[in-house]
Amino acid sequence: MKSTLFRNAVELSHLVVSQAVAPCDTVIDATCGNGYDTLFLARLVSPGKVFAFDITARAIDNTLTLLTRHGFAENLSLHQSSFISLADYVNQPVKAIMFNLGYLPGGDRDTATTAEETELAVSRALNLLVVGGVMTIVYYTGHDGGEQEADRIINLVSGLSQQEFEVVGMKFMNQVNNPPGLVIINRIKEA
Ligand SMILES: C[S@@+](CC[C@H](N)C(=O)[O-])C[C@H]1O[C@@H](n2cnc3c(N)ncnc32)[C@H](O)[C@@H]1O
Repeated sequence: MKSTLFRNAVELSHLVVSQAVAPCDTVIDATCGNGYDTLFLARLVSPGKVFAFDITARAIDNTLTLLTRHGFAENLSLHQSSFISLADYVNQPVKAIMFNLGYLPGGDRDTATTAEETELAVSRALNLLVVGGVMTIVYYTGHDGGEQEADRIINLVSGLSQQEFEVVGMKFMNQVNNPPGLVIINRIKEA
C-alpha cells in the first residue's frame, strides 16, 4: 500500500509548527505527556527554550528522561502544573503553543484534559502568541468528555476575530473510529 502523505492529526500539527518556528524561538508544549511533541519542538528551536507542562507526574518524568537522552535538557523548562497557569511561568512572547489533548497514552483516562480547563487555557494562551506565531490543538472525541471538549474548542475558536487570527480546522473526513481533529490558529495582528 502507498504510504500516506498526511498520516494523522499530530503529524499535521508538526508540519504546521515546523513552518512557523526557527532556532532560538521560545515555544510551549501545553501537554507534554511522554515528551514526543516536546522533543519535536526542542529539535526545532534549539538553542531556544521549550516550556513544557503536564499535570501528571509520570508525564513529567517521561519527558525529562526523553529530552535528557536526546541532549535537550538544557532547552527545557518543565513544570508539573495545569496549562491554565501557563502565563505564571512564561513571561515572554512565544512562537508556537501545542495542545495535544486527551489522556496520557498508556495511562489512566482520569488524566484526560477537560472541556472547561482546555477552553480557559486556550483563550489565555492566545495572549502569549506573537504575530506570525501558531497554536495547534489536537483533540480526541472517542473518550468520555471528548465530544464536549471538541465542541467547546470549536465554539471558542470560531468566535475569534478574523482581523487578529487565521483559524483553520482539519479532520480526516473518511476515517472510521473517531479520528483526532486539528485546529490551527495563526496570529496575524497584535491584540
Ligand atoms: C495525549 S497526551 C499528550 C501527548 C504528548 N504531547 C506526547 O507527545 O507524548 C495528553 C496529556 O495531557 C495531560 N493533561 C491533562 N490535563 C492537563 C492540564 N490541565 N494541564 C496540562 N496537561 C494536562 C495528561 O496528563 C496527558 O499527559
